[in-house]
Amino acid sequence: MSYGNGKRVGLTVLLSIITIIAVIAVVTGVWYKVKGFDEINHSFSSEIVSSSNADDLNKLGKDYVFTQVSNSQINAGDLILVNNYYEYKGDSSDIAVIYESKNEFYSVSSYEDSAKPVLIENLNLMLKDFVTATNKNDINIISAFRTRELQQQLYDEGDAEYVARPGHSEHETGYAVDFGLYDGQYSSQFDGVGEYEWISKNCYKFGFILRYPLDMESVTQIKYEPWHYRYVGRPHAYYIWENGICLEQYIELMRMYPFNGEHLLITDYNAEMYEIYYVSKDMESEFTQVPVPKDKSYTISGDNIGGFIVTVKV
Ligand code: DAL
Ligand code: ZN
Repeated sequence: MSYGNGKRVGLTVLLSIITIIAVIAVVTGVWYKVKGFDEINHSFSSEIVSSSNADDLNKLGKDYVFTQVSNSQINAGDLILVNNYYEYKGDSSDIAVIYESKNEFYSVSSYEDSAKPVLIENLNLMLKDFVTATNKNDINIISAFRTRELQQQLYDEGDAEYVARPGHSEHETGYAVDFGLYDGQYSSQFDGVGEYEWISKNCYKFGFILRYPLDMESVTQIKYEPWHYRYVGRPHAYYIWENGICLEQYIELMRMYPFNGEHLLITDYNAEMYEIYYVSKDMESEFTQVPVPKDKSYTISGDNIGGFIVTVKV
């Protein structure tokens, strides 16, 4: 009997302990959830919170907040991949006439040659250093921004191994530039050899890449073009140059670094550090909530495929 009573008491104690543990677990869980909402509700919608995993919430609470980006921005930014597969659907806003803001270290073939201001700014810096290093001052910009109509015309007249299909040319983005040579009397092709090799060896310092390298023809589907340079921004250009890859491969690599995973850390040639991560676009909304650092400077670029690349200056 006493044995039976003891058993009942033991069972009651055990049930009480289990109940207390369960109550603590539920209360703690609810508290964390409420706290999580409270911390991030300052800037985000609750749908996003409910779709975030525990890692996201940890990172968000501490160092990151969401910023809302329209999915249409996937076509914008200096990391967009435009090639035979990915059409450029962005617009030509924010394109500037090169002649109006260029420096004295190169010439343009036409007053109309235009490009993104960030390209012109870095082109000025690069060609100033090029002239200082080589004393060659005959670089001539022969092509930069092209309308789709102009690309169509070039395509109809040209060689498809060198001219991208209309709608699929980087020149339509304003982030690409073609070099030629002009000595004041004669024009010639820019072959990137001899003293001109300085450009392919130093372009990453100014955020440019040689977009169609000789050994990448099977990936880019464009023949080697020593004259065609693309602006992608400094840390990215450095990584691409250092690892001998092309833009297609770099953009694919970005998917390996989602926000809720490991981020890509790049220390560039002059010891500046960057943190880079990828955020897929929200397929169920017109907007994507992109996590960005609370107190560091950053840029967001679309990839022109399915997401955004965040570059943080560490
Ligand atoms: N020449 C490059 C591939 C273009 O037409 O965009
Ligand atoms: Zn080109």
